[in-house]
Amino acid sequence: MTGRLRLGVNIDHVATIRNARGGDHPDPVRAAVAAAGAGADGVTAHLREDRRHITDDDISRLTERLTVPLNLEMAATEEMLDIALRHRPNAACIVPEKREERTTEGGLDAAGQFDHLAPFVIRLTQAGIRVSLFIEPDPRQIEAAIALAAPVVEFHTGRYAHLEGQHRAEELRRIADAAALAHKNGIEPHAGHGLTFANVMAIAAIPQLMELNIGHFLIGDAIFSGLESSVTRMRALMDEARG
Ligand code: PXP
Repeated sequence: MTGRLRLGVNIDHVATIRNARGGDHPDPVRAAVAAAGAGADGVTAHLREDRRHITDDDISRLTERLTVPLNLEMAATEEMLDIALRHRPNAACIVPEKREERTTEGGLDAAGQFDHLAPFVIRLTQAGIRVSLFIEPDPRQIEAAIALAAPVVEFHTGRYAHLEGQHRAEELRRIADAAALAHKNGIEPHAGHGLTFANVMAIAAIPQLMELNIGHFLIGDAIFSGLESSVTRMRALMDEARG
């Protein structure tokens, strides 16, 4: 099983640069449209409680302008649920969110927060939004995702990205085993966080993975190469890994 691996481009950090000065430049919606034009299969945006990058207006404009699917990353809060139900993105990825963190630092504890998460999965699903849970590549979390009837899980690749040598190889195996377990149980596995040109191929080669969501590195590389070129190169590396 080696289907085409989709690339979701996370445009949060275009908004980070815009918000550093206020105003509307650079526009994350323009970046989203450009990424799609360069071969991104979808666009991801994380509307955080503190609105540090993506804003409500960005979500509104993304749903109006995008011709590829929008994946809304959201915390499991009533506020975010209302927004998701109003805008109806194609997909919603439920992520843990801590106000003081620099980025999403670990996976969602789907097992520990089962009762809290269950109504969110149900209400999003009933609205026709494909729910994904951003979890660690851990069998206990996959069991919880199965019990929650989440159709998709996204494995947090942050540990893989930061480790080196033997430790990285072990984490890669954990992600591969988790992808196989999710797939075997009818859950579509995705992955993301900390992926770069240098580390993406080993992840992309995991045959059950269906989508990678990549943001910070791509937006940073785009400063030097332009967004189209950065997306095209990432896409090519993913395709090469699937060879
Ligand atoms: N997937 C999820 C669920 C995330 O929260 C993030 C970071 O916002 C990403 C993917 C992308 O991570 P990065 O910006 O490190 O590529």
